[in-house]
Amino acid sequence: MTAFGPVAWPPAPIRTERLVLREPEARDRAAFIELFASPEVGTYTGGPRPRDELERAVPEVPGQRPGLFVIDLDGAMIGMITLDRRDAERPGHVRPDAGEAELGYMFLPEAWGCGYAAEACAAALDWFAGALPTEPVVLCTQTANDRSMRLAAKLGFTEVQRFEEYGAEQWFGVWSPVTPSG
Ligand SMILES: CC(C)(COP(=O)(O)OP(=O)(O)OC[C@H]1O[C@@H](n2cnc3c(N)ncnc32)[C@H](O)[C@@H]1OP(=O)(O)O)[C@@H](O)C(=O)NCCC(=O)NCCS
Repeated sequence: MTAFGPVAWPPAPIRTERLVLREPEARDRAAFIELFASPEVGTYTGGPRPRDELERAVPEVPGQRPGLFVIDLDGAMIGMITLDRRDAERPGHVRPDAGEAELGYMFLPEAWGCGYAAEACAAALDWFAGALPTEPVVLCTQTANDRSMRLAAKLGFTEVQRFEEYGAEQWFGVWSPVTPSG
């Protein structure tokens, strides 16, 4: 069993026009450290972590868990996407029993502004909708995080509510697969 019930993890690598969504490998370690140490990436996600601490803490193959995709451009990691179960204790839910699938994304600043995050997230949502067709996906982001807010809208997330958490206003939205009618 995984965080996604009977769905096998990892799925076969998912290819998009420019990218591959795949499981992590040892060669991704430096990119993982870069993501967590980057002040730009950390602006709205709790701040960067010290590089020396990361060098000690990050395992040889980082991020090996159900729901985490490495995003690969021409053989190199440029970011990651996560689908996790949302903690019932946190504000923001769309199901009475909580535990919704929640989308997260972090890309290296050099890869921003090219539409890679949108392309990769759309593919991850598509995979999820194929695996668990009846389940919605939620997303939470600071309203001040302009890039993330634009991405959420582009992917088709719609606002459920806003609330304060971690000393900032949060936007909480939901996405459901479009089911063809007729
Ligand atoms: C949030 C984040 C993933 C957004 O990345 P992004 O590159 O801005 O997002 P997109 O993939 O949607 O790219 C959009 C931009 O690419 C541009 N673009 C260029 N070529 C494009 C193409 N071929 N197709 C689509 N868009 C393209 C778009 O015009 C848009 O530019 P703009 O933002 O200046 O209007 C990134 O800023 C990030 O990793 N932030 C740090 C982590 C974080 O805050 N995560 C959210 C936690 S909730």
